[in-house]
Amino acid sequence: MSETKNGAVTVLLGAQWGDEGKGKIIDYLIEKYNVAVTARCQGGNNAGHTVVANGRKYDFHILPSGIISPTCYNVIGNGVVVNLDAFFSELDHNGVTNDPGWEKRIKISSEAHLVFSVHAQVDGRQEDTLAAKNKIGTTNRGIGPTYSSKCFRNGIRVADLMGCFEEFSERYRRLVEHYKKQFPSIDVDLEAELAKFKAHREKLKELDLVGDTVGFIHKMRKEGKAILVEGANGALLDIDFGTYPYVTSSNATVGGACTGLGIPPTAIHYIIGVVKAYQTRVGTGPFPTELLNEEGERLQQIGQEVGVTTGRKRRCGWLDLFLLKRSAQINGYTAIALTKLDILDSFERINIAVGYKLDGEELSAPPAQAAAWERIEVEYKEFPGWMSETSGIREYDKLPEKCRKYVQFIQDFIEVPIKWIGVGADRESLIVRH
Ligand code: GTP
Repeated sequence: MSETKNGAVTVLLGAQWGDEGKGKIIDYLIEKYNVAVTARCQGGNNAGHTVVANGRKYDFHILPSGIISPTCYNVIGNGVVVNLDAFFSELDHNGVTNDPGWEKRIKISSEAHLVFSVHAQVDGRQEDTLAAKNKIGTTNRGIGPTYSSKCFRNGIRVADLMGCFEEFSERYRRLVEHYKKQFPSIDVDLEAELAKFKAHREKLKELDLVGDTVGFIHKMRKEGKAILVEGANGALLDIDFGTYPYVTSSNATVGGACTGLGIPPTAIHYIIGVVKAYQTRVGTGPFPTELLNEEGERLQQIGQEVGVTTGRKRRCGWLDLFLLKRSAQINGYTAIALTKLDILDSFERINIAVGYKLDGEELSAPPAQAAAWERIEVEYKEFPGWMSETSGIREYDKLPEKCRKYVQFIQDFIEVPIKWIGVGADRESLIVRH
């Protein structure tokens, strides 16, 4: 995103297991590049950005971050699964509904699928059936079961809610029945749920919040407006390319931007990968560079690695370039934003994973077989720490030499330019490389 090209679509993606600090980079890009539309293409209210802007602190789970700009349109695409309770409460608690004309800046795709409370209950029941070591670590928001309904083809779309309410009610009853056969303990107050959805429907109609988002984005592109697609979660949680089955239920890689918004691949000009300078993961699943020691605890504490959505402590470890290279192959990043470099300021030595061995054999790709991860041996390259504060630095050349070596190594290894470097939590703590 070096200039604002007419109708250019930029896709911003988490390059690891989510929580890379995408929120701050999105906020910076919106302001700097005059972004006219921000769009969510996948996931649901299981993701979470924290953005501090205009003297306010926002936390978004389902809303696109462009909400914070009074001139930005916000699209929730067909690939997103929408929990309407969460949608309306997020608008309220972030104070969005106090902004005049806010409703004109939001559009939900009529093709997006709805998340129901029954889906959240199924999420919990499914996790309960798994042995402790096999639990996926879902956020229990019903996101996975909603995508399952979509593929099972008994899912219910926003358009169904906006159409004949009788028909919607019938489909909803059938959906609950379907799950009750599987999990008899599921408890849904059908009439109360239907009354709630009727109220949501009236509100959506009154505020004109639902529409053809494919057509809307296409029109904005033709008008030469800059469009920013914000990925949720991260490449290593992708349903196809992530550490399956410990993944999310959607494509968090670049293809998700096309299928989740109806944007042709040729419209995408820039693909920005957001990479944290170390590695974190929430919940269970493979994490070969995890530090189960004092260093891991320090990363967790200094980095304040606690989930925005769940409040869970994140697992921490060294940066994994072997996995990042894979993430770069799949996404074709045109630039990288490296975040939270300052968190490493006080570490005497820093490791980076550069290769994997499985049963003594060098791997050329991450294992596809879930059981193989436990036998991974990581090959590290050690770097001396720079042991000085970087948070006040705004020019790349002013970073300590040891720190620049760390950054340069990452860039050379994945062969993608690192254009932005985060050295602190606020919007200004960013080094921009030209
Ligand atoms: P994702 O969208 O999932 O990546 O979440 P997020 O963007 O909100 O990330 P997270 O929940 O981990 O929150 C990031 C926190 O780290 C926020 O409070 C940011 O202000 C802060 N942060 C972002 N970049 C940096 C950085 O470069 N250095 C430091 N110290 N903090 C940062």
